[in-house]
Amino acid sequence: MTFPNIVPSRRAFLLGGGAIAAVAAGGYALKPGMIKADSRFTFDTPLNIPAVDLGRVEGGVRVFDLDMQAGETEFFDGLKTATKGINGAYLGPVFRVRTGDVVRMNVRNTLASDTTLHWHGLNVPARADGGPHQVIRAGEVWSPEFEIRDQAATMWCHSHLMGHTAEQVWAGLAGLIVIDDDISDALAVPNEYGVDDIPLILQDRRFYRDGSMPYEVSMHDQMAGMTGNIPLVNGTILPFLSVSTQKIRLRLLNGANASIYHLEFEDGRAFHQIASDGGFLSEPAPMTRLRLAPGERAEIVVDFRAGQNALLKSVAANTGRGMGMMMGEQSPQFDLIEFRPSQDLKPSADVPARLAEMPVVLATDAVKTRHFLLEMGGMGMGMGRMMGGGSGFTINGQEMDMSRVDEVVKLGATEIWEIENAGPMAHPFHVHNTQFRVLDRDGRPPAAHEAGRKDTVLVDPGETVRILVRFDHYTDAERPYMYHCHILEHEDAGMMGQFTVV
Ligand code: C2O
Ligand code: CU
Ligand code: CU
Repeated sequence: MTFPNIVPSRRAFLLGGGAIAAVAAGGYALKPGMIKADSRFTFDTPLNIPAVDLGRVEGGVRVFDLDMQAGETEFFDGLKTATKGINGAYLGPVFRVRTGDVVRMNVRNTLASDTTLHWHGLNVPARADGGPHQVIRAGEVWSPEFEIRDQAATMWCHSHLMGHTAEQVWAGLAGLIVIDDDISDALAVPNEYGVDDIPLILQDRRFYRDGSMPYEVSMHDQMAGMTGNIPLVNGTILPFLSVSTQKIRLRLLNGANASIYHLEFEDGRAFHQIASDGGFLSEPAPMTRLRLAPGERAEIVVDFRAGQNALLKSVAANTGRGMGMMMGEQSPQFDLIEFRPSQDLKPSADVPARLAEMPVVLATDAVKTRHFLLEMGGMGMGMGRMMGGGSGFTINGQEMDMSRVDEVVKLGATEIWEIENAGPMAHPFHVHNTQFRVLDRDGRPPAAHEAGRKDTVLVDPGETVRILVRFDHYTDAERPYMYHCHILEHEDAGMMGQFTVV
């Protein structure tokens, strides 16, 4: 057993009983001087729970101040890591809003470089989207104003700078947005933030023994996406959470650059998914394992027994489409967080059998079908760009070009978007400015937990997923929205396209 050569830590160096190893499936080689995955860690850091930011109301507008800033984070005791964050050194607070609020987001870029901030999952005007066209130069402030038109949901925000999204999100430029509405207020689901309603931002990183966490992508990382051997939950390594209620609601976000997490409890316990990307499901979906791809959110409710600790982990899993070498490493294997219920748990209400109204989706409502072919460029993967050509990461044969609008969609028109994955890796396909519904996967209807509102859907190798899409709110013939793979290295390499709504 090798140990990282880091300064003494209350977390490291426990021999024997109680020590738990973090293991990444890997497929990449750690560089000399990196903290190894087989280092032993224990769960002795309390989970970092991001503070809630309610903004302030000025003249009927809920105003938020967001500073995109550089800082230092102590992920490992005594080691400082250079990071970036929103109103903090790493990640951001939870921005909490209500359906119907008009918000103004004063986003100040205090970094030395350009950035953007995109509201992932929200319906917003194109000028307010925060995608590659809404660059915030160093030192500038960008203040979009828009109405919250989505229902109660767990959304998020992150940098979306053309060609640099992966690097900026890796450094920490991401945060959560929680939307409340009358339905979420009335539902008997755990909702006491920080007590029985807990956000978990799941990520993984690579660190050097000096604590640094540089964004260094090899040719392999460029192709497979940047994954790490050290899991982070809200920026904490192997945290624990003290539990005081029978049930806990977890708002899960896969905020990793590339890893697909297959989440389960070590003891195999069942839990219920109550919400997907865009809000509540029609009814709770029972499960023992949850697959969460980059960009996706899921809210689950978990039962605890007094005094019995429970461990949430990500297990290595094949999506079942078997593509050998590429598959294993898309899903790292590690322990994430330990839950520690007290001896005396406060009773929680049963999860309601009905959660939200979910309109029936009918393919026959669609007036148009569009096809999106995702490709990784065959044998030349990654090589193309080096040889002076393209990256090979394309949608319908083309790399992203900010000056080309790929699709023009009519406001309010229901369409089928047919996403075909012709490559050897699974790609999470994300569409801005909408919550869509999954129609089918290779002709099969979606599982219950994928039958709700979605903005990101994982498409397995060789698979075709059809989604029913509609853009209901805003038109702008000039400014496009994006659709793209949410493996951030793939997005940056060109697996992204643009559409306008007119
Ligand atoms: Cu989460 Cu185009 O983004
Ligand atoms: Cu988005
Ligand atoms: Cu991809």
